[in-house]
Amino acid sequence: MELNRTQFMQTAAAAGTLLATTKARAVENAKLAAKKNPDQLNIALIGAGAQGRILTESCLKIPGIRFIAICDIWDYSQRYSQRYLKKYGHEVNVYEDYQELIATEKDKLDAVVIASPDWMHAEHANACMNAGLHVYSEKEMSNSLEKAASMVHTAAATGQLLQIGHQRRSNPRYIHAIEKLIHEVGLIGTVTNATAQWNRAKTEDLGWPKKYEMGADTLAKYGYNSMTEFRNWRWYKKYGGGPIVDLGSHQIDLFEWIWGVNPKSVIASGGVDYYPNHEWYDNVMCIYEYDTPDGMARAYYETLTTTGHRGFSEAFRGVNGTIEIAEVPQRGNSALREAHAPDWQPYAEKGLINSVAAPIAKTTTKNVAVDVRVTAEAGAWPLPVELTKPAHQPHLENFFNAIRYGTPLNCPGEKGYETAVAVLAVNRAVASGQRIEFNPSDFHA
Ligand SMILES: NC(=O)c1ccc[n+]([C@@H]2O[C@H](COP(=O)([O-])OP(=O)(O)OC[C@H]3O[C@@H](n4cnc5c(N)ncnc54)[C@H](O)[C@@H]3O)[C@@H](O)[C@H]2O)c1
Repeated sequence: MELNRTQFMQTAAAAGTLLATTKARAVENAKLAAKKNPDQLNIALIGAGAQGRILTESCLKIPGIRFIAICDIWDYSQRYSQRYLKKYGHEVNVYEDYQELIATEKDKLDAVVIASPDWMHAEHANACMNAGLHVYSEKEMSNSLEKAASMVHTAAATGQLLQIGHQRRSNPRYIHAIEKLIHEVGLIGTVTNATAQWNRAKTEDLGWPKKYEMGADTLAKYGYNSMTEFRNWRWYKKYGGGPIVDLGSHQIDLFEWIWGVNPKSVIASGGVDYYPNHEWYDNVMCIYEYDTPDGMARAYYETLTTTGHRGFSEAFRGVNGTIEIAEVPQRGNSALREAHAPDWQPYAEKGLINSVAAPIAKTTTKNVAVDVRVTAEAGAWPLPVELTKPAHQPHLENFFNAIRYGTPLNCPGEKGYETAVAVLAVNRAVASGQRIEFNPSDFHA
């Protein structure tokens, strides 16, 4: 059979990936065989700031995970993490320069957890994967699509695992709501809309303890213009993508999971309206369109930084009901049935949802008529699945299980890239004031 050019390229790419994966697996096996305790995975952390510490806490709860090194350019973060890890019996070597960490520790390491600011993820992740190390990289993959794509390419070329930190993808509550209730059971019928928001009250910029202020030379060496930008990197174009990327990426990622397709367009409005010292848009509202196998669906997303109203949560709206969910269950953890929908009691009897918590809507409340044809029930049916671990732990477990047992990653680089394409486009839509149309090929790195 003759192959056309595309088929040839695909076959060659697949063969290349297979070879890389086989090589990576051989290195992995050799490392495991050389270890005193092959069940133990040795890891390093690059970027020991706020999120690095949260991931550290989760890793410490997972059996067989041992920190052997950390890297951070700021001695405040270095000291904090080194001391914290010591309390739990993990003596780590501390590095300022990630290249030195890799050169010195790579033969002892299995994987690296990266929680540096977004603009450094690609440089850090690519260097680690090229040194034969698996990578868990925080979201957003990058503030640049080219850099995000380079991470996908490096993972394919080296055969190393690359997990992106959209941790809801491993959260059993979300898996139950999306894969069980929406996809498998069809509880809420065809999902025609989704809404999500992450709103925060007005806040001051982050500061720093004066005795830990970095000198201008050190800041410049690592590419930061000032301590203010170093601490508040999210707000500056060089280092991050603003709230829509920082916060929105977690939730916009879910829309693709719900519908199984990437968006076909996005429109957006936003501005640098309330924080004149920042570069990125402080309040953003956007609407995506999804051409799903079941018809057109739309998702509205907002991230506001001048009001905390409604905090953060997501609602997936189907013709038979809505699922409201949030990473913190107190903010969303229930299904609401449309009054015309089939009875949900059989689902409750099977344990798929809990029984309705409050009485359903009556046809009238005092003098106000309620239209039963169009109104959802007043009572919410709670979701029965609890996450009894810290929010990031299942996603890290998924990553470590992939290293140990070859189980699939819940958010491999390719999936993270698709989300990065959808999310980074919002900033372009705001800047241009134009609707952005996507091609399916835009989502392939
Ligand atoms: N998944 C989640 O829920 C979640 C939550 C918060 C943050 N994050 C992500 O985690 C990452 C870190 O965010 P954060 O809130 O911890 O920021 P942060 O500013 O608190 O911490 C960043 C750390 O990286 C260090 N750093 C900066 N440049 C470095 C370099 N070149 N080499 C080594 N270290 C460097 C800083 O000194 C700091 O200690 C970001 O990508 C962010 O989007 C994810």
